[in-house]
Amino acid sequence: MYLSRSRSGMETAMGSASFARQALTVVLALACVTLCAGSQGDFSNSLHFVRKAPKGHLPATHTRLARHPSAGPSAPEQIHISLAGPGAVAVNWVTPGPETSSSHSILHRLSRHLPIQLRHARLGRRLCPGTSIVQYGLESGVYTSQARGAVPTCYSVGDYDSGVLHEVVIGLDGPLPASTDIFYRVSGSGAGVWSEEYAFTTPPPVGPASLPYRLGVIGDLGQTEDSLETLEHMVASGPASVMLVGDLSYADGDHERWDTWNRMVSPLTSRSVWMFTEGNHERERASGVPSWLAYTSRFHLPHAASGSGSPLYYSYDLAGAHVVMLGSYTDHGADSDQAEWLAADLAAVDRARTPWLLVNMHAPFYSSNLNHLREAEAMRVSMETLLRQHAVDVVFAGHVHAYERSYHVYDGAPDPCAPIYINIGDGGNREGPDTHWLPRPDWSAWREPSFGHGTLDLLNSTHAQWRWVRNKDSVTAVDAADAVTLVRSECHMDRGAVDRAAAAA
Ligand SMILES: [Fe+2]
Repeated sequence: MYLSRSRSGMETAMGSASFARQALTVVLALACVTLCAGSQGDFSNSLHFVRKAPKGHLPATHTRLARHPSAGPSAPEQIHISLAGPGAVAVNWVTPGPETSSSHSILHRLSRHLPIQLRHARLGRRLCPGTSIVQYGLESGVYTSQARGAVPTCYSVGDYDSGVLHEVVIGLDGPLPASTDIFYRVSGSGAGVWSEEYAFTTPPPVGPASLPYRLGVIGDLGQTEDSLETLEHMVASGPASVMLVGDLSYADGDHERWDTWNRMVSPLTSRSVWMFTEGNHERERASGVPSWLAYTSRFHLPHAASGSGSPLYYSYDLAGAHVVMLGSYTDHGADSDQAEWLAADLAAVDRARTPWLLVNMHAPFYSSNLNHLREAEAMRVSMETLLRQHAVDVVFAGHVHAYERSYHVYDGAPDPCAPIYINIGDGGNREGPDTHWLPRPDWSAWREPSFGHGTLDLLNSTHAQWRWVRNKDSVTAVDAADAVTLVRSECHMDRGAVDRAAAAA
């Protein structure tokens, strides 16, 4: 405890000095942005950098975004699987809502003519008629098991009525076998209506013996031509599962865009686990609309399985990693529920079982891009010490639409016991890349405002291979734009020993 307070005091002093340094840096950078405009070399460490202009959403009629023309009126769509606890996987999907049926369509059309205040009275999530069933098995077409979900839900915002939102967790009545192909189909909105068959491979057993394991990492995806390029490259990379660090659909209040985004990613999310944390674009802003309505209604966020009281932050174990999803836009002060939960979650990690400790958040602690500069400073001050104390290996973030990788850094200074920070908010959203860099800080190892994605190969308990793949490079390109081997430092190893000793005591 004494050491913690001492470190906190030192942190404050160092933080003040760091703030002064960064303030001077910002002034210099603003001058540079003015004076160096057009100088590509100042904005990137890639000699091949070509700035891409922002693009809008793909049209909702695009073949990847529109409801499949051959799907019947009762067919399920927008299928997504995620981890739901040890040996369990959640399946989420959407079927046409009751408002589209004849018995509801008149009320639906009439509601469009109501004053906005009355239309908002229809807001919120509610139970909706329907049945949620997943049938699955170990052979294609042979569904030996079946699981039912609770009564599905739906929600309305203004003129928008969602489809019926289904969720079923499979593996609750006995864990799913590890590293096994599961063939499944989900129920439609009519009796005897089923989806086509999908398949996914269950995660391996948790532990270093399950390494190597490839994680995909992506941020700020959106639904543009660039988003599709990112997904195409991601498929070529072949990750076993994906972490998305927030800013998913860029629906921004247009809830039809949640449907189009889910259709766009469904060919991937129906076949491998995709785990999310939320960004600012998941936050509902319309007056009277509950926050995070679409995000928390459409996806399974396994907070209860990790002891979190909020779907906005949670954790899970996967292969040889403990993965933490933090919430940048919920209370994150030092005395907050999130900070308290984080401290307990990190303290409970068994590094012998999950040697790799990964943290995801949306707004970055470290970025040398002018856009969104220091937006996460309060969260950094309240949580960075925890991440260092518990020897977190890598912190992924998005928000800034550019790629940047740091060296090991703590409070702005080199520290081999601190995490490295990787910003990967370059998934391809409609706002375009963030191209204005500050002069490069000492902690910044690599940066470039190009769209792309990353993969993290956890090779064994001590070594991992990180790769950043640009969309501008061929899908079949052998070399990543940025590739680095990560070796867990001695203090990370020591931390593992401390954890094991504490667990054994
Ligand atoms: Fe963002």
